[in-house]
Amino acid sequence: MKIAIIGTGNLGQSIAKGLITTNAITTLYLTKRNIESIQDFEGYKKVIITSDNVKAVKHSDILIFGVQPAHFESILKDISSFLTENHVIISTVTGFTISRIEAVVGQEQFIIRAMPNTAIAVGKSMTCLCCNENGKKRIKISEAIFNRLGTSISIPESQMQAATVICASGIAFWMRLIRATTQAAIQLGFDAKEAQELAMHTCEGAANLLIKTGNHPEQEIDKVTTPKGCTIEGLN
Ligand SMILES: NC(=O)c1ccc[n+]([C@@H]2O[C@H](COP(=O)([O-])OP(=O)(O)OC[C@H]3O[C@@H](n4cnc5c(N)ncnc54)[C@H](OP(=O)(O)O)[C@@H]3O)[C@@H](O)[C@H]2O)c1
Repeated sequence: MKIAIIGTGNLGQSIAKGLITTNAITTLYLTKRNIESIQDFEGYKKVIITSDNVKAVKHSDILIFGVQPAHFESILKDISSFLTENHVIISTVTGFTISRIEAVVGQEQFIIRAMPNTAIAVGKSMTCLCCNENGKKRIKISEAIFNRLGTSISIPESQMQAATVICASGIAFWMRLIRATTQAAIQLGFDAKEAQELAMHTCEGAANLLIKTGNHPEQEIDKVTTPKGCTIEGLN
């Protein structure tokens, strides 16, 4: 796939790492105005770094936008006359609606909104997708991209704000829970490194139990909870 990431900041770099490590690219254009901070990507084959968004658009089919909301409209205006019927526009820009994108580039373009999280850098993003009417023809390819980088589901656009809280901000919430468990482990006598190992791998195991069995959390809780035991005391 010929992919461009327009606005390669925190999220864009995470997506780029995921695309590179899963061999998802034929070519990958990475753009930002100040390209010094992404020079390291030049070490990867098939990756081209540029501050020229139009050049990236001309040489790519899939355009993933990772810019801040305030910059998005003017960037869309700059590239809109170079869009063809082949381009798929994937916007990760929070709160920027499909109708606002259509107002600049037209309803006939394939437009997808994606809400991934930074775990995309390690191929574990939970990504929510929605699209315009025409974008339904390209939702499968968008799902294929994000399924390489984790898991994706398609949702109505009306749920995108909620998805932002649960999936994008959600990374921070789970980090705090892991940190709190790490501190509890230190209090119980483990050194800091061991404590974090215990916390993060237990967290991974808990999530995997649900993912692989399809069980409800309470079913798994019942398995480790005995009357008057330490688990129920901890839970309460
Ligand atoms: N971070 C997350 O976990 C997350 C998750 C889901 C969605 N999002 C959304 O994704 C978007 C990006 O978030 P972020 O955290 O990655 O922000 P960020 O780090 O600020 O990245 C935005 C990038 O856009 C570049 N940029 C600005 N103007 C540009 C232009 N004219 N042409 C090309 N590049 C340009 C900036 O670099 P220069 O200044 O060098 O140009 C910057 O590196 C936001 O809309 C955010 O709401 C973020």
